[in-house]
Amino acid sequence: MCGIIGIVGLAPISARLVESLRRLEYRGYDSAGIAGVVDGRIERRRAEGKLRNLEALLVDNPMNATVGIGHTRWATHGAPSVRNAHPQLAGKVAVVHNGIIENFAPLKAALIAEGRHFESDTDTEVVAHLIDRELGLGLEPVAAFKAALDQLTGAYALAVLVQGEDALVMGARRGSPLVVGEGQGEMFIGTDALGLGPFTNRIIHLDDGDYVAIDHAGARVFDRDGIRVERPLRIVPAASALVEKGNYRHFMEKEIHDQPDACRHTLSAYVDPITSTVSSPGVDFAAVDRLQIVACGTASYAGMIGRYLFESLAGLPTEVEIASEFRYREPALRPGALALAISQSGETADTLAALRWCKARGITTAALVNSSESTMAREVDVVFPTHAGPEIGVASTKAFTSQVAALIALAIAAARQRGRIDAGEEARLATLLLEAPRLIAEAIVDETLIGSIAQEIAKARDVLYLGRGAMYPLALEGALKLKEISYIHAEGYAAGELKHGPIALVDEATPIIVIAPSDALFDKTSSNMSEVIARGGRVVLITDAVGAGHAPEGVNVVLAPACDPLIAPLVFAVPIQLIAYQVAVLKGADVDQPRNLAKSVTVE
Ligand code: AGP
Repeated sequence: MCGIIGIVGLAPISARLVESLRRLEYRGYDSAGIAGVVDGRIERRRAEGKLRNLEALLVDNPMNATVGIGHTRWATHGAPSVRNAHPQLAGKVAVVHNGIIENFAPLKAALIAEGRHFESDTDTEVVAHLIDRELGLGLEPVAAFKAALDQLTGAYALAVLVQGEDALVMGARRGSPLVVGEGQGEMFIGTDALGLGPFTNRIIHLDDGDYVAIDHAGARVFDRDGIRVERPLRIVPAASALVEKGNYRHFMEKEIHDQPDACRHTLSAYVDPITSTVSSPGVDFAAVDRLQIVACGTASYAGMIGRYLFESLAGLPTEVEIASEFRYREPALRPGALALAISQSGETADTLAALRWCKARGITTAALVNSSESTMAREVDVVFPTHAGPEIGVASTKAFTSQVAALIALAIAAARQRGRIDAGEEARLATLLLEAPRLIAEAIVDETLIGSIAQEIAKARDVLYLGRGAMYPLALEGALKLKEISYIHAEGYAAGELKHGPIALVDEATPIIVIAPSDALFDKTSSNMSEVIARGGRVVLITDAVGAGHAPEGVNVVLAPACDPLIAPLVFAVPIQLIAYQVAVLKGADVDQPRNLAKSVTVE
């Protein structure tokens, strides 16, 4: 998704605009641009592709402004091009935007009928024209901005420049994140605290519907009704230190290696190592008669893993549904249910919409999120944190295992609260769970142990992942990891499902990756492997030492540490991440910012 920065500075800002956009690269983009007010007039610099192209432009044609805005664009309306890159300009107004203006077509038609000309195919350009038109009617900038906002439907985070205003940037948010940063006589607007990390850690989070004017005196915030409001100023952790990748080749590699700490920090919010007890702050699961999990992508696979434990350990009926489908089927949820959103960013539009659907029907809502200041965290009744730290790589790794760790803890707490386990069993399970960070670290093997397998998979056109029980969602996650960063087509299946159709895909060109710890389901999965081998399939088996000793002939084994089934999803997530990472590196893919993808999908 797009990244936004705005600065009202005391010194030239071009380099700082670009620096902020670089910290927002993880959100995914295909073009970038900045605009500034120079001697009262608006200047723009825009380039397709990576930020280095914009920087090259600025070397040849510097922009000497102390107030300006910047943007990295993830194309929604209009192909990636300079013409469609932001800032979009109309008359005296420049605008950068994250989101979708759903009524842009009729607005554009009306503006064209009034004789206005458009240069781009974007929905955003309409916003610039609307503000410019209101200015032309004599409104002062903030009133003109508000009048334009009142005509929009859809989701937006906006930053706006006005010609002649050399110490003003305006911003607004509805459904997409936007924060204000307070400096020393300088003010900032940005997508998130990470983007403002180099300049300030004094952050104001705008509420949905807020709009703001920043100048050298500070920020004037207004709510959706135009009432002046004060939003709390927070000192956030020094974000600038958290986004460096150190000696790793990619953020994804760093974040795979961060997992033991991420898991440990996350568990500290739920497990008391002194008393060996587990808590679920804010929710008594004894009072919950049904758990409805909503999420997207990798987060939904974490939810599927959690479901196995909420039902088997806690006896709690649990559904997991991808958020983009959930609310459109009119689910039969009643008060007494708990709706739990799982989201790394806490901003995913589909998941947020599903949460709001539940909230509107009086259902208690909770969110398992990695950002305590996210929109989801601020709208739900209960927040369950993960403490993975900022995840920059688009492909989720430490956020996923942190989500799974938190869900395992919550399932244990639910089992205790619902009287399904006693204190002794709670203590045993808590102790097992606290072993996970060490075992995750052991699973992060040297890449040479996977290298030859990665070489083979890198040649494949299609790959199948198989798993049973909680390894089935891991098969789905492994397939997603591979396809999203290496662009190789991959599918995850329940191992028992193979013979009901997918086995027709098996030939010697299709690697089959089987995820199977030596648990109660191993023998059944081993039969599935034999079925594949009998048909010329090439099997890669991810298992522990005991499983390796019982593997069928001809199977390539990737060893994972032996562990209790309770934490196997955490430990066995690592090999599937390492395989995907190494294949993507072999293929020379853009590992941290894969094509077409965004870190947080804030549009439906
Ligand atoms: C996973 O590698 C992807 N980045 C994607 O599936 C992601 O998990 C999904 O978009 C949900 O994002 P969220 O956790 O921020 O809601």
